[in-house]
Parts: sequence; structure tokens; C-alpha cells
Amino acid sequence: MLFDIEEIISQMTIDEKISFVVGVGVLGAFGNPNPKVSGAAGETREIERLGIPRTVLADGPAGLRIDPLRENDNNKYHATAFPVETMLASTWNREMLRKVGQAMGEEVREYGVDILLAPAINIHRNPLCGRNFEYYSEDPLLTGEMAASFVEGVQSQGVGACLKHFVVNEQETNRMSVDTIVSERALREIYLKPFEIAIKKAKPWTVMSSYNKLNGKYTSQNKWLLKKVLRDEWGFEGFVMTDWFAGDNAAEQIKSWNDLLMPGNTYQIHSHRRREIDEIKEAYERGEITEDMLNERIRAILKVLVKAPAFRKYNYSNKPNLEEHAKISYEASSEGVVLLKNNGALPISKKTRVAIFGTGQIETIRGGTGSGETHPSYTINFIDGAIEKGLNIDKSLSEFYRNKIAQFRSSEYVITKGQWGEDIVPKLPEDNFSEEEIEAYTSKNDLGIYILTRISGEGVDRKLEKGDFYLADDEYRIISKLSKAFRSQGKKFIVVLNIGAPIEVESWKEMCDGIVLVWQPGQEAGRILADVLLGNVNPSGKLPTTFPKRYEDVPSRSFPGEPAGNPMVVEYDEGIYVGYRYYDTFRIEPAYEFGYGLSYTTFEYSDLKIRRVGGEIVVSFEVKNTGDIPGKEVAQVYVRGPKGKIDKPYQELKGFEKTRILKPKESERIEIRITIEDLGTFDGRCWVVEEGEYEIRVGASSRDIRLKAKYILD
Ligand code: BGC
Repeated sequence: MLFDIEEIISQMTIDEKISFVVGVGVLGAFGNPNPKVSGAAGETREIERLGIPRTVLADGPAGLRIDPLRENDNNKYHATAFPVETMLASTWNREMLRKVGQAMGEEVREYGVDILLAPAINIHRNPLCGRNFEYYSEDPLLTGEMAASFVEGVQSQGVGACLKHFVVNEQETNRMSVDTIVSERALREIYLKPFEIAIKKAKPWTVMSSYNKLNGKYTSQNKWLLKKVLRDEWGFEGFVMTDWFAGDNAAEQIKSWNDLLMPGNTYQIHSHRRREIDEIKEAYERGEITEDMLNERIRAILKVLVKAPAFRKYNYSNKPNLEEHAKISYEASSEGVVLLKNNGALPISKKTRVAIFGTGQIETIRGGTGSGETHPSYTINFIDGAIEKGLNIDKSLSEFYRNKIAQFRSSEYVITKGQWGEDIVPKLPEDNFSEEEIEAYTSKNDLGIYILTRISGEGVDRKLEKGDFYLADDEYRIISKLSKAFRSQGKKFIVVLNIGAPIEVESWKEMCDGIVLVWQPGQEAGRILADVLLGNVNPSGKLPTTFPKRYEDVPSRSFPGEPAGNPMVVEYDEGIYVGYRYYDTFRIEPAYEFGYGLSYTTFEYSDLKIRRVGGEIVVSFEVKNTGDIPGKEVAQVYVRGPKGKIDKPYQELKGFEKTRILKPKESERIEIRITIEDLGTFDGRCWVVEEGEYEIRVGASSRDIRLKAKYILD
């Protein structure tokens, strides 16, 4: 049936209109007694007499978040756990993001969901943001490009994606009230940019406004943001929804072009919650909100929803291709592993006798918590992955861990449930051996591995404390002991980082011969680590975010804002100097820089050519595999602008490309197009491209520039 949107709007009563711009409740616990898809985050309202079906919205960035088990139902509704977004960005592979998006999109559709509440594209402003794992990068171009490809993938399946959280939601502390103060330049160049890129390239169906205020106004109540920038300037054609329970004035939200208020509370259970519908109705009766205004919001929503599976009466199977998607999850995470250090420790052979230490071998972290969590049917932990892939592990050691962890979890370290039904998982002791025991394990084995884990999630930021940003004392102790033991016997010792965001590495990185950053890799975790250790996978990930040497080096001094303890305001007074833009300009050496990552092979860059074609600068060069084994390389193009009227960062990423798998001696010519507009700086009022000499810098990381050339723009 074809929906004539204007006809439908003309038939809606004013009450129907008012209630249609408000959602119908979230998850069973929040009051929707009969969710269409259990565990989905929300729904839009059904108007049966007009043939408007309910549509379903569900999280999130690392995989579709729905309840795997339902009451009185023996079927299972597991969705694939993909690597977290930061790891996806570490692939720097647009095609991979498209593939992951497609796979997630299929699960969304086949489980009866209409819109996926992803990707999340806030910026890694500070390493302690609790949701950094859900965001791609500190760089707006990398973020925007990853998001655009992901959105294309999702939407190719006939379901919608949602860019969130629009905008400047770079912390969890007081996220529902904090006022983010940011200059228009930083806003445009850093924080809005990824949204702009993804909207222009991929036309996402929806955008989610954020919880926080932007320069004094809630983003969901900010017409400048939601109308002028988003629609008039960028041409956004979808609809905007609030984040769940965001803002403080429903009428203002409607007036400010925030089309849909989520999750809504038609099924009122929590009496302390305000009723948006009543607020809108009162504003309508006062004449503050007009019928035309409502029509406009409904038009925006319906224009999107008519494309959704629910409107098309799609007969979903509840049987997505989970087997195929597990392979895609594996592939994506295997390209997102970042090899931070390797003094000839890796790869190893199946003969190498390996002693794996750390409770993370059993309690492997597949992803973060909150709305970005997932419920896959399995997660292969590191030890099981190692066994499955035939690594020659010390079985007595892994058995020790299995028993010890079981014992810990049944005594002092019991896992309990939190207020939202989430698991509260006490951290386990890591230093569980005497020097003699370590000595014995060292003598029996050729390589020592320690697995270090971290988890964080929605609602709280990470802590600048031991056990979070810093190593806990027992972690430091066991790393020191293992390092000493293995090295004194002429053996290698490596650390595996199973984390969602940077930690301090500077104080201990010299103690090991290798560091493998596996991030939070999703359900295939153990298989990926084993394949990287064995060299079945040659690491090709690069850092999408800087690992600073010291927290004191981080440019965002105001985090999470002032006053301390209960911040009301966070000032982004570092301006555009976020991430490497800061470290490079102010010559602060990081532990591991943006764009960094090693491979088991080596690459050579040559033959840089630059030409102008119309409004574009075309940068091309050769990348050759000069080592002994096949591998992929992420080639990056940075541009250093002229010293003009406006101060600029030392350099900025303007393009990147991942090669195909190059065999030894094989090369690929990479071509990257940079539009002249992409060289623009926002001077406070508008975008300006300054004349002068631009340096085009091609490299393997932001600090490993291999080729340079000047380009004069006049
Ligand atoms: C989160 C969003 C999420 C929504 C629905 C909010 O708390 O900030 O990212 O999409 O909940 O689950």
C-alpha cells in the first residue's frame, strides 16, 4: 500500500498529532507492557485507523541490543557481538565498516526492528570518557568516514541508522545536565564535522540529539543546531529524536525541530516522569505550538518511517544469518588489532610453549556496558581461542586460572546485579603466584603473555586511578615479575591489552617485548588473538586515538567540568586542539601516536604525485610490501596549512586508504582526493580556505611521515 503522507496527516486529529511526536515507552521495565521486540529501546506510536504501524528502535553500535530470551518463549534472539566502534575505526577500512553495517542491518530487519540506534560519533576528547569505546576516534574525518560507510551498510538492508549523540556529548558525568561550552570553530571543525560528513555522504534516516546543553541550551531544544545547521546548511532529510528522557521542555523540543521525543511515556508507570504529551498539549492550547509545526514534525518522521520494514509489512524471520555474521565480526576485529610493540616476540609458531597469565584469559571483555552492550550466543574467551587454534599453551596454568576464578567468584568476588539489572563484577586479584611458581612456569615455557582487561560503560566516566587509567598495584607487580622472570631466561614477554580506551602504558611498556592491543573485539575475541599470535593474521590496525604518555599531557583540562565533583559546565577551552592536533602542534610526545600500528611486514612509500583536477587535489603514491609476509597497510595523508591569518594545527588528517593484501614485493598505487573545501578553517563566522603553501604529508602514522610535497594554492 502506498502511503500518502499528506493525506494521512490531514486525517489525524490534533490529539493524535500530539501523541505521535512522542514515543511509547522503552523496554518492559519502563512501562511498555507489550513491546514488539523485547529489549528494544523504544517504539513509535501506532495509529491503527490510519494504517500507521508501530516501529521499533534498538541500540547499538557493537551489535543489535535486544533481549536474547523472552518470557514464555523457547526461541533465542541472540545478535552478533561485533568489535566496539573504536576497534572498527582501527581498521581504517571503509569496506569493512560497510560489511559490518550490512550484517547488523540484516539482524535489525530480521528481528523486526526498524531503526538501529547507531553509529555513535562523538569525539574522543578525553581518554576517560566512559563511552569512548562506543565512539570511533579523536579525529573528525576518520569518524565521519567510518560512520558514513557503516550507515550505508545498515541502510542497504532497508532499515534506518541513527547518528548520535548530536552534539558535544563527550562525557558521562552529569551528561543530562552539563553545559558544554565550545567555540563555534571547534564545534564546526571537530565536533559537528563527523555528523556533517556522514549526513552528506550516507543520508542517515535519523539523528539523535544529545543529553547535554550546548553553550547554554539543551541540544534537543536548540533550533540553530537542529534546523539551521542540520537541515538548512547540510540538507538533512530525516528526523531527529531526543536521547532517552533528554531535555527539560517538550514544547521547546518540538519548536526547535526535534521531531520525536523518546522514549515517551504513554504507558506511564514512573509517576515522577513528566508527561511530554501534556506539556505539548498545553503549549498548543497556549498557541505556542501550532498545528503546522506539528504537521512539519510528523511529515519528517513519516517520510522516514514509510521506508521502514514495519510500514512495508515486512515478514521478518527472527532468523538472521548469525553464522555468516560471526565471520564478519571475526574479519572486522582481525583488521582492528593494533600491534603496539614487537621486539621480535611475534609471531610465534605452534611449537612455541606459551604461558598465558591474567584472569582476562577466562573473563575476556568482548565490549562495554550500557546501551552499547550486546547479547551474543557465545564469546570465545582468550584461552579457549588459544586452545581451538592449536597454540601450545601451558595447560596446568590455564587450569589453575579456571579453578582460581571459579573459587574467587563463589567467595569474596561474587558477581551481583545492579539497579538496571546490569552485572556488577568485582575486579579479581591478578598477582596470584609466588616468585618460585613464576620461575617454574617460566622454565617450562618459551613465551610469557599477560592479559590486561578494562571495561567501562554508559553513565559513568572512567577514573584517573590505579585499576582504571593506571595499572593496579597487583597488575604492575605481576607484569614486573613476569618480565623479570622471562627475560632473565632469555625469553620474551608480551602484554595483551583487552581494553576499550587508552590507559597509561609509559611506565611499564619497556618491561615487555610486545604489546598487542585487541581492544574489546566482540564475540570472536579468542580466535582473533590466537590468530594474531600465530601470524595467521598479520596485524593491520592503526590507532584512531592517541595513547598519551601521561594523563597530565591530555589537552582537555576541563574534564568532566566544574565545579569538581558535580560539574555543571564543561569548557572545551582546548578549542580545535584535540588529540594529535594538540600533541603535534605543542610538541608533546605521546606514548603511541594517532595513526600508529605495526605489522609483521614492512612497507615502503614512494613516487608521490600531486595534481589538481577541478576542485580537487589528487594525491597519489606507491605502497610496497618490502617484508617477507603478506599484509595490508593503512596509508594516511596529512596536510599542513599555510601560516595565514588563522592559527592552524601542525597537521590534519585529510585522507586515508587501506591497501588490499600485498604479497611480499607487491605494491599498490593509492590515490586520495582532497577537495579544496576540505582544506577550510572555520574563522568564527564562516569557512575560509587560505591561500599559500600547503604541505602534503603521506605516512604510516601521524609521526611516521614518509613522503612530503608542497602544494601552492592561489
Ligand atoms: C543512550 C543512547 C541510547 C538510548 C536508548 C541512552 O541512554 O545515551 O545512546 O540509544 O539510551 O537505549
